[in-house]
Amino acid sequence: MAKKKAKKATAKTAAKKSRKVVKLAAVKKPNGNGLPKASTKPYGQAGKALTGVRILDFTHVQSGPTCTQLLAWLGADVIKVERPGVGDITRGQLVDVKGADSLYFTMLNHNKRSITIDSKHPQGKRVLDGLIKVCDVLVENFAPGALDRMGLTWDYIHKLNPRMIVASVKGFGPGPYEDCKVYENVAQCAGGSASTTGFREGPPLVTGAQIGDSGTGLHLALGIVSALYQRMRTGRGQKVLAAMQDGVLNLCRVKLRDQQRIEKGPLTEYSQYGEGIPFGSSVPRAGNDSGGGQPGWILKCKGWETDPDAYIYFITQAPVWQAICDLIGEPTWKTDPEYATPRARLPKLKAIFARIEQWTMTKTKFEVMEICNKVDIPVGPILSMKEIAEEPSLRKTGTVVEVDHPTRGKYLSVGNPIKMSDSISEVTRSPLLGEHTDEILKDVLKLSSKDISEIKNSGALSAPKKEEKAA
Ligand code: COA
Repeated sequence: MAKKKAKKATAKTAAKKSRKVVKLAAVKKPNGNGLPKASTKPYGQAGKALTGVRILDFTHVQSGPTCTQLLAWLGADVIKVERPGVGDITRGQLVDVKGADSLYFTMLNHNKRSITIDSKHPQGKRVLDGLIKVCDVLVENFAPGALDRMGLTWDYIHKLNPRMIVASVKGFGPGPYEDCKVYENVAQCAGGSASTTGFREGPPLVTGAQIGDSGTGLHLALGIVSALYQRMRTGRGQKVLAAMQDGVLNLCRVKLRDQQRIEKGPLTEYSQYGEGIPFGSSVPRAGNDSGGGQPGWILKCKGWETDPDAYIYFITQAPVWQAICDLIGEPTWKTDPEYATPRARLPKLKAIFARIEQWTMTKTKFEVMEICNKVDIPVGPILSMKEIAEEPSLRKTGTVVEVDHPTRGKYLSVGNPIKMSDSISEVTRSPLLGEHTDEILKDVLKLSSKDISEIKNSGALSAPKKEEKAA
């Protein structure tokens, strides 16, 4: 008893002490680490998170552009360098409006400026050197070695601008595959996603979510922002690499968790276990099983015979088991030892979900959602892209936005999914090819009209004329 009391007293003193330290430090350093005083401007009117950061954007296709689009939404000035006459290859891919930039391009390049430069032309190199000197970050996702072949090695860039952060997406990190060109599905396969996606009895599957491209772009953006933060202390730039295989694996982390568990015994939450099918030596495909400890499955809803998306994801979370039993009309399952505990249910999950499905099939997915949410049962309607495009709440938050474009007209896009109270994103249309070339030469590089015409006449910023090509 006395010991207990003494322990309690020591804990109390320790808590008191730690409170005291916090209070003192706060009094001594009201603005902590020499940061400026809190702005008195209204929220959303004190600039954006990355205002003042200038990005030299050498990205193309999807992974790199996802990253720089995000940085642009956060306020960075993103200058996209494109090959004269050609530009980012996606401008002309999956074209739906003749003569206009494709949705593939426009939806990945909002809020950026475009300059055309032939990076292998001596005068083009001169312009690039100038931009390297005034930019904070160079982002690229060329095939391995392409940047070096342009003469833009790390040493060269670092000499021109020691503060420059050089950020790259590559397919693979250093190792046997480092020289390979990589696209989305290659990364999904090499990063462990495909082997763990799909049904046990079927082949590996890729997912529609672009976890290799867009997922790696997101990883790179975090690396860049962190490098900018570190530069505030060190004053120097650094290399940032996000390999697509690594990015996909990071998103498949729970499957590497299961790989280690499988060596110790069966994965009891996988429906394969309940069905009595033995496990092999590596993580199997688990169909629609949930990745966590709460069993879940996709169930049919009213209208499934004609509507391919009339389904709902249903999670039989333990704390709401009783509510589930009441809803589906099986009240005895609440106390029946064969059903009452998660462990007892594991071998019967298939039959249990079949019984729940008999109930969900009598309702639309939205009705199921409404009924279940009222009693805290987690469910997710399978929303089609059409439903998402038309969803008013997503329009309201700016997650789905309508953008106007001079050559293609109005189109829908996904806005910034990251919402910040003091850095509010407006989505502006993607640039036309080379739309800002003059503006950048003049305002960013401060070149004289004489210099500008000299560079232009050299052919470094424009595509070779068709007649010249033919000649
Ligand atoms: N001026 C002159 N040349 C330019 C240029 C410019 N402004 N911009 C690009 N180029 C050149 C490059 O220097 C390169 O030439 P080189 O190979 O002779 O040195 C050439 O264009 C092609 O670049 P590359 O990156 O190899 O394009 P690709 O179409 O052959 O390959 C990928 C595309 C995506 C497979 C490849 O870039 C890659 O593996 N990237 C890394 C992984 C990645 O991001 N993949 C996902 C993409 S969504």
